Amino acid sequence: MSDRYLNLPVAPADTAFGLMAEYDADPHPNKVSLIAGAYRDEDGRPWVLPSVKEAKARLSPDQNHEYLGIAGSPALIKLAQSLTFGSDIVTALDESIASIQTVSGTGANHMAAHFLARHLRPSQVFIPLPTWINHKSIWATTGVPIQDYPYYDPSTRAVDLEGMLSVLETAKPNDVVILQACAHNPTGVDLSQTQWTRVAEVVKRKNLFAVFDSAYQGFATGDVDGDAWAIRYFVKQLILDGRADHPGLCVAQSFSKNFGLYGERVGALHLVVPRYLSAQGARSELIALARAEYSNPPRFGASIVETVLADENLRAQWQRDLETMSVRIKTMRHELRKRLEDNKTPGDWSFIDSQIGMFSYTGLGREQVTRLRNEFHIYLLPSGRASICGLNEGNIEYVASAIREVVDSGHN
Ligand SMILES: Cc1ncc(COP(=O)(O)O)c(C=O)c1O
Repeated sequence: MSDRYLNLPVAPADTAFGLMAEYDADPHPNKVSLIAGAYRDEDGRPWVLPSVKEAKARLSPDQNHEYLGIAGSPALIKLAQSLTFGSDIVTALDESIASIQTVSGTGANHMAAHFLARHLRPSQVFIPLPTWINHKSIWATTGVPIQDYPYYDPSTRAVDLEGMLSVLETAKPNDVVILQACAHNPTGVDLSQTQWTRVAEVVKRKNLFAVFDSAYQGFATGDVDGDAWAIRYFVKQLILDGRADHPGLCVAQSFSKNFGLYGERVGALHLVVPRYLSAQGARSELIALARAEYSNPPRFGASIVETVLADENLRAQWQRDLETMSVRIKTMRHELRKRLEDNKTPGDWSFIDSQIGMFSYTGLGREQVTRLRNEFHIYLLPSGRASICGLNEGNIEYVASAIREVVDSGHN
C-alpha cells in the first residue's frame, strides 16, 4: 500500500475553530469569547430570530425530506435574487442572470472559484489584505495564482484606496477581484460610495471579473438595500450600462448571519453575464459542478428563508430582527469605546464606534492578545480581530479594564 498519505504531518487546526475549542475547555468563570462570527444576545447566548422561530412553527411536521433539485429551491433562488439585486434589476437582467442555491456563503465562494478557474481561466485572483481567512484557502484549491491587494492601512485605520487601485491597475482582462459587499471581515471598515465608484471604474475599464462576497446584508446596518448598494452599483455600471465584452460578475450570498442560520448552510451564488447574453449555459455548468460535489443543497434552512421572505408579516418581523441585532452591536461598540475612554486607556478608540458589522479590528498586537487570553481568559483572533457580538452588559466592563491593562503595560 502507498504510504504517501500515511506520512502526512498533522496540519495546524483552523485558527478560529481551534481557539473556540480552547475557549470551551477553559473553566474560568469570567471567560469571554470574542472569537466567533456568530451573533450572541445580551445574555451571551445564540439567538433564534423571532421571524425564524415563527417560520419553523409554520413548517408542517409532515414536510417530507425529499432531495431538492441540484440547483436548489427555485422559490428560494428567486427571493435571494431580489434581495440581492432588487426586483427591478432582476427583471432588467432577464436571461443574463443564473443562480444556484449553495452550501451557504463558503459553498458559494467555492463554487464561484472552481467555476471561474475552469471557464474564465483568470491569470490571477486579487484578494484583499486582510480578508476573511477562507478566501485564500478556497482559491488555493483551484491553483489560480493569488495576488493580495492592500485593503486596510493600520496607520490610518481606513481603506488604503490608492494602494488598492494601484495593484488592481496591474490586473489583466478576465482576472478576478474579490470584494466584500459590506461589513468587511475582519476590519469592520467599508469603502464609501465614492470609493466604490473608483473601484468600479477600474474593474470596468480593465475588464475584470468581480466576485462580491455578501455575508452580512442587513446585518451590517439593518438596511438590506443600503447594504447591497455596491453590488447594485456594479451591476448597473458593468452589466446594464456595460460593454458586451465584459466578463461579468457574481455574488456569493450567505444567509448565515442575517438569518442566524449558521449551521443550516443556506446561501446562493448569482452569476451575471453581459446584458442580452444568456447565462443559461454557465448555469448548466454550475449545476454539473454541484452534482459532482454534493448533488443537492440542504433543504431545511432554505425552507425557513423562503417562508420568511415570501410572507409580508414575517418579512417585516425579519427586518425588526435585523434591527435588533445591528442596534445591539452598535450599542456595544459605543459602550466599549466609552469605557476605554473613561478608564483612560492610552490611544484613540473612536474607531471602534465608526467600524461597521460584527467585527472590530482592535489594533491590539499578538502579545497583547495572548495576555488577554492567558491572564484574563478573553479570547480574540491573533490578528486582533474581536467579535463585538461577544460583548454584553455583563462582561463589557471586565473586557475594557483588561484591554486597559494590556495596553497600559506597553507591549504589543
Ligand atoms: C466575509 C465572509 N464571507 C463568507 C462567510 C461564510 O459564511 P457561511 O459559510 O457560514 O455562509 C463568512 C463567515 O464568517 C464571512 O465573514
